Amino acid sequence: MIRSVVDAYSQLAKRDLRILRIIEAGHRRYEFVPQRLVERWARYRKEEVRDSVRRLHFLGLLRRNLSPYLGWRITAAGYDVLALHTLRMKKKVLKLSPTPIGVGKESVVYAGESPSGFKIAAKFHRGGVSVFRHGEAFKAKISRYEHLGHVYETRLSALAEFYALEKVFEAGGYVPEPLAYNRHVVVMQYVDGVELYRLDAGEFAVIAQDVLETLRVALRLGIVHGDLSPYNIIAGRRAYIIDWPQWVPLGHPVAAAYLRRDLHNMATYFKEKGVNFPVEELLNAVGEGDVYGGERFIELIKTSLL
Ligand SMILES: Nc1ncnc2c1ncn2[C@@H]1O[C@H](COP(=O)(O)OP(=O)(O)OP(=O)(O)O)[C@@H](O)[C@H]1O
Ligand SMILES: [Mg+2]
Repeated sequence: MIRSVVDAYSQLAKRDLRILRIIEAGHRRYEFVPQRLVERWARYRKEEVRDSVRRLHFLGLLRRNLSPYLGWRITAAGYDVLALHTLRMKKKVLKLSPTPIGVGKESVVYAGESPSGFKIAAKFHRGGVSVFRHGEAFKAKISRYEHLGHVYETRLSALAEFYALEKVFEAGGYVPEPLAYNRHVVVMQYVDGVELYRLDAGEFAVIAQDVLETLRVALRLGIVHGDLSPYNIIAGRRAYIIDWPQWVPLGHPVAAAYLRRDLHNMATYFKEKGVNFPVEELLNAVGEGDVYGGERFIELIKTSLL
């Protein structure tokens, strides 16, 4: 078994990657892409195609189906490799750490470096966590590719996270700078620091001010984080809020409940540290002006979800 996407990627030749890409394209029509079609589409000799497919299968990047015909489906690890390859070709990623720095239910995160020497974090989404997956725009998008529903949900997660990071970052909130995304992967600035739940000593009043500022910025944009906790804040030079794919627009029916939970989590945490977190003040700031219902993001789903 392969240890990581980096490990698998390092074992692939150009031809293997081309064939993986051909199978990906074949998924537009087939859940399991027939071997004979891969052989026809690929401009290689049959033996070369079989050799590549065997390696891709061995590395866990393809799943085989034998009946009623021999066919192939790309695994989550296979999509990881395709995304990493694209990000490298686009010069967004130079290299990634050999093993992940974070493995969660819904994602795997690697540290890495950009070609310009910038320290990056690459988050590979595993789950569909965006509320927009229940919306019309997304359902219309995937209606033709039902067998790719989960794949598209992980891409929606990445797109949603990238969108929230970009908006909050541009407006001056403390979040990792978003650098690129491809398929189900988001590349962002690496934040040097410690998650709040692991921090025993620190300037908690200053940290609370940063969190407040970022939440004010997000709320002004109509964005509710939705999973705010001491696990999703990294205290470094400033306190940065991470992990945004499940953000909810303020106009959404669940937004108020999520916001209250987010703020309650923060108030509880900071109270333990002897710092007041002014929940009421934030709640009062909500509802000034138009309430954002996610319209701009929905446009993005229609135009740019791969
Ligand atoms: N930009 C970053 N800089 C440094 N470390 C990061 C960054 N993004 C994520 N990490 C690390 O990876 C871990 C997981 O990231 P994140 O919280 O975004 O996803 P997750 O918790 O796996 O998602 P989920 O909550 O859906 O399971 C973080 O707790 C943190 O340690
Ligand atoms: Mg997290």
